[in-house]
Amino acid sequence: MAKVVVIQGPNLNMLGVREQNIYGPMKLEQIHAQMKEFADKNNLEIEFFQSNLEGEIVDRIQECLGEADGIIINPAAYTHTSIAIRDAISAVAMPTIEVHISNIHRREEFRQKNMIAAVCASSVVGFGPFGYHLAMTGMTQIFSEIAAMKEAQKAQQA
Ligand code: DQA
Repeated sequence: MAKVVVIQGPNLNMLGVREQNIYGPMKLEQIHAQMKEFADKNNLEIEFFQSNLEGEIVDRIQECLGEADGIIINPAAYTHTSIAIRDAISAVAMPTIEVHISNIHRREEFRQKNMIAAVCASSVVGFGPFGYHLAMTGMTQIFSEIAAMKEAQKAQQA
């Protein structure tokens, strides 16, 4: 069974409390419950991790190597600053989808810089918490394409 690790960056533990006009009323646990439901229906294993600390996020990404098949990450404020998180995503070299609840492109100037997007398969931005559902759907598509590619390679070798 393919495994997805969901990594949530700083202050996302405060969803439902922080800036509801930007991030909405949903709590992180509710978002994760919906993702778990999607995973169960689609025969995927899923694990959740949230940290306010950059180094812990780097550690969790590194641990995905040999343990997970894909990463869904909202690096939150570290999106705009963290070369360390970008390098970790690059290092593990597995399908990674970046999610942002808000549309960072239409927000402050300092959010226009994104250290993470270029090392991700895709970014989902501005859909609110529904973005996590879209990322799960996207990940299942990526997994099917990888499986189809492996099948084709096997057939060629036979
Ligand atoms: C965020 C956008 C970031 O700029 C911000 O620092 C966050 C959340 C989002 O999901 O919209 O904490 O990643």
